[in-house]
Amino acid sequence: MKKKLINRIGVITSGGDAPGMNAAVRAVVRRAIHHGLEVIGIQRGFKGLLDEQYIPLTARSVSGIINRGGTFLKTGRCPELKTSAGMDKAIGVLRRLNIDGLVVIGGDGSLAAGTAISRRGIPVISIPATIDNDINGTDETIGFDTAMDTAVEAIDKIRDTAISHERVFIVEVMGREHGFLALSIGLAAGAEYILVPEIKQDTAALCRELRTVNHHGKTSVVIVVAEGCGDARLLAEKITLSTKLEVRVSTLGYIQRGGAPSARSRILACRFGSYAVDLLVAGRKNRLVVTRRGAISDIAVEEAMQNEKQFDRALYDIARTLSA
Ligand code: F6P
Repeated sequence: MKKKLINRIGVITSGGDAPGMNAAVRAVVRRAIHHGLEVIGIQRGFKGLLDEQYIPLTARSVSGIINRGGTFLKTGRCPELKTSAGMDKAIGVLRRLNIDGLVVIGGDGSLAAGTAISRRGIPVISIPATIDNDINGTDETIGFDTAMDTAVEAIDKIRDTAISHERVFIVEVMGREHGFLALSIGLAAGAEYILVPEIKQDTAALCRELRTVNHHGKTSVVIVVAEGCGDARLLAEKITLSTKLEVRVSTLGYIQRGGAPSARSRILACRFGSYAVDLLVAGRKNRLVVTRRGAISDIAVEEAMQNEKQFDRALYDIARTLSA
């Protein structure tokens, strides 16, 4: 009989939580059981791995979580793993637990950790999960769709006040380094302006435009700003000073990370989770599961890490023309 390459896998959620992480863990566990594997859930991200915090997972352990936000395994960031002593410790724990394959569910910070572990001989498959959708190589990450819906619903409400009071609203959305989320939210919410870190902002030109559109009868405006663009309150002050319009700031913050995952985020999680386990069973390592044009496939993690994801300038320009 052919010997199985792996018998026991680990699954870990790492970095910022994203809606759909639970659905991904569920998929990993149940697909692994389908293949006759045992599953260990590492708790509290890589910090929990170093502290040997884990639980055996069965099909029943992941009941009733497909619809829940956050991650029941809990998550966190772990600077210690970036040190060689930290990495030695992590490998030691994985070996002691007889884990011969690991699925990492997380954002771009998790990719480097997965690669380092893979290079030390324990196969790792990474699943992109972050509301920021900033991982190169995949059209979408788990949680992005849900975060978009949450923010758009909130902006629809804010717009009621903007219209009633004839105000300019600056709505700050998440995205410390990138504007992928801001662009999609802005487009879907019909925002008049979208400010992203990828495109240098000209505040004086923005103020001039605001004065002009106001003069031509547009009495309320929504400006979606990615948090990476700087202090939204400072921007509000500059606009108030220059235009004399009434400006308010609303920071959506962590509500974008929480809540029940959308059907789309859940389906992506189910597909990514199953595919990741199939890769481990097939003896693959250091791969990133991705979706491109609706199909699921995988790429080398290095390929994702080498380049920054390209900002969709054409879509940004479309958003501009639609916001007249
Ligand atoms: O999940 C991604 C992200 O939301 C970024 O957009 C944001 O800047 C960051 O995480 C903040 O996360 P934390 O406060 O958990 O470090």
